[in-house]
Amino acid sequence: MFEADILEVPMQHASMECRATPGTDSMSVLPTSDLLLPYQPESVAAARRFVGAQLREWGPSDLVDDAAVIVSELVTNSLKTGCQTRMLVGIRHPTDHIVRILVGDGSRSMPVMVQARPDATSGRGLAMVHRLTHGRWGVTLLPFGKVVHADLATPAPTPR
Ligand SMILES: Nc1ncnc2c1ncn2[C@@H]1O[C@H](COP(=O)(O)OP(=O)(O)OP(=O)(O)O)[C@@H](O)[C@H]1O
Ligand SMILES: [Mg+2]
Repeated sequence: MFEADILEVPMQHASMECRATPGTDSMSVLPTSDLLLPYQPESVAAARRFVGAQLREWGPSDLVDDAAVIVSELVTNSLKTGCQTRMLVGIRHPTDHIVRILVGDGSRSMPVMVQARPDATSGRGLAMVHRLTHGRWGVTLLPFGKVVHADLATPAPTPR
């Protein structure tokens, strides 16, 4: 169901941005890697391995831990949609300092970040993504589903 180029969503950081079609500011010439995964619990770990391996290969390995949390949360959310066939996990590395993680699923229901009550056992996943990305995540709505993206930046070097 997914074509790789649907993951070439614009590099914009407005939270919950919705676009019917991918923009022209695409990242298609940049380091890029995609993986199709089934809607099964095992895909969470598979997505973590995929993203971790790609980050180590590309260089920003200091982002591995945060990227693992983000991709775990996004894939877990996609699993809960009840979709069939495959979800798409992608990673982009547009500059030395930025990594974009994308998870596409077949549901047009939108993610909604909620404020979990202290005693709630759920409702914290997107809040974690929001915190780790400093709000740099969003959603691109597609005719047959959506892609959620989250951008991580390497920490600025501390001045000596
Ligand atoms: N990929 C998605 N497709 C459809 N709805 C989503 C998706 N991701 C999130 N949502 C909606 O946004 C809500 C908030 O997501 P969030 O990840 O913050 O919490 P949760 O998944 O309910 O709980 P937790 O992540 O803490 O286990 C979800 O309950 C769901 O309604
Ligand atoms: Mg969740």
